[in-house]
Amino acid sequence: MFALELKNISKTFGTFKANDGINLSVKSGEVHAILGENGAGKSTLMKIIFGLYQPDAGGEIYLKGKKVEIPTPRFAIKNGIGMVHQHFMLVRPFSILQNIILGVEPRTWFGSVNYKAARAQVMALSETYNFNIDPDRLVETISVGMQQRVEIIKTLYRNAELIILDEPTAVLTPQEVLDFYRIVENLKRLGKTIIIITHKLHEIKEIADRCTIIRKGLFIETVDVGTTSEEELASKMVGRKVDLKVSKSEAVPGDMVFNVEDLSVDNDKHLPAVKNLNLTLHRGEILGLAGIDGNGQSELVEALAGLRKFKSGSIKINDKEIGHLTPRKIYESKLAMIPEDRQRRGLVMDFKVKENFVLQRIEKSPFSHYGFIINRELEKFADSMMERFDIRPRNIELNARNLSGGNQQKIILAREIANNPDVLIAFQPTRGLDVGAIQYIHQEIIKLRDQGKAILLISYELDEVINLSDRVAVIVDGGISVNISHETLVTQNNIKEYIGLFMAGGSV
Ligand SMILES: Nc1ncnc2c1ncn2[C@@H]1O[C@H](COP(=O)(O)OP(=O)(O)OP(=O)(O)O)[C@@H](O)[C@H]1O
Ligand SMILES: [Mg+2]
Repeated sequence: MFALELKNISKTFGTFKANDGINLSVKSGEVHAILGENGAGKSTLMKIIFGLYQPDAGGEIYLKGKKVEIPTPRFAIKNGIGMVHQHFMLVRPFSILQNIILGVEPRTWFGSVNYKAARAQVMALSETYNFNIDPDRLVETISVGMQQRVEIIKTLYRNAELIILDEPTAVLTPQEVLDFYRIVENLKRLGKTIIIITHKLHEIKEIADRCTIIRKGLFIETVDVGTTSEEELASKMVGRKVDLKVSKSEAVPGDMVFNVEDLSVDNDKHLPAVKNLNLTLHRGEILGLAGIDGNGQSELVEALAGLRKFKSGSIKINDKEIGHLTPRKIYESKLAMIPEDRQRRGLVMDFKVKENFVLQRIEKSPFSHYGFIINRELEKFADSMMERFDIRPRNIELNARNLSGGNQQKIILAREIANNPDVLIAFQPTRGLDVGAIQYIHQEIIKLRDQGKAILLISYELDEVINLSDRVAVIVDGGISVNISHETLVTQNNIKEYIGLFMAGGSV
């Protein structure tokens, strides 16, 4: 029996068809993956199932065999559908418990919120599914992985039978991903049906039973995961054969261009996060910073970008001290930055796409002339960026908010690369991108390197660090614990385990 069936579902925004005649059959109790390139229409389809969007006329939706229309999320929830969005929707100053029961609080006889009953119910759920939550913690103090659990419990608290997870692992660290797999296993064991969107093919192999592939809004195929290889999945998704490996020539490092000396930075709690850290970058090389998250990476990057004050040390580009300059001045010193959190730091979500391309230099030539914005130049530039980085849809008038997650990320990359920096700091640059887009971005980063730029790549994905970097530094507890040369990188057996050991605190 199908928990959910969609027949010929379409969704048009203006003149753009985000979904075009999609069929989807989800069996009761299965984990069903949705695979498709950035902008293929996955989130749109999920929002239709959850009642956030109304499909165009002509399609049909069946829940447990019964034909329905899903006019609102309230209706979806009432009918056992839960959704965890690509970008979380929790109230940060509220406690975990308050967030979970928000809007469906149990009441006492006197009409006040019955926290005792709510707590008991939430704790029972937490135990059944092994969530390990502390209901009284404020959401703003918990990790992303924990926030995601809160979102999942929220759906369970509302008795969801079918749970939609939109790119749940894009925001998790590798360790959190393993915990997440256990959670999915538990949900499945206890009879829940799960629809999961992910760009990571190995994840689909790991946890999904079947996979539906969509391409540019069109339904392509539903396959059994067990009998379909990662390469097959990838080529069905993009419609041609794809090579999943990065190819690059050997680096030819030149002069030193970036130099960080003895840098110490505190975290938000005024505790040391970066401790006397040293690193140097040469023109024409990619230095990968490998490390488990929470070892000072965020604080380091914020200090380098001028977004966080540092206690001591120096940061130099081309021998010029840039520490303590404003972010704007640092940017003008030819340091470009791909930030970790694209929605908070990378884009202005309610600005148009064309404006987001020139955020830091809108008042500069050729985009402004005597204080007037030259729209024609702005549009010419934006159009060329859309073309070059294949950002979809090709509509520079849309607000950034209305682009798919992956295409938002591409705008940031395009903007930063186009500014012709001497140094690019790339923090998780391919988070949320599809395999084709990742390959493309990696090639762009390598191209930048070959033009003599220096790149500092900070990623929690060890595979990405190893594939892309010319040499690697391991960060542990706020300092560089070991430097791994290019030679070691290409000759060492089991390089992943080798670096993993250092990341876990091992020493030479
Ligand atoms: N409210 C909207 N108005 C206009 N266009 C929209 C709107 N919402 C989505 N789109 C467009 O529909 C297309 C599909 O977007 P969607 O978010 O469903 O993609 P996706 O498959 O989830 O991609 P990603 O993997 O990047 O998250 C995109 O091109 C997007 O720009
Ligand atoms: Mg999406």
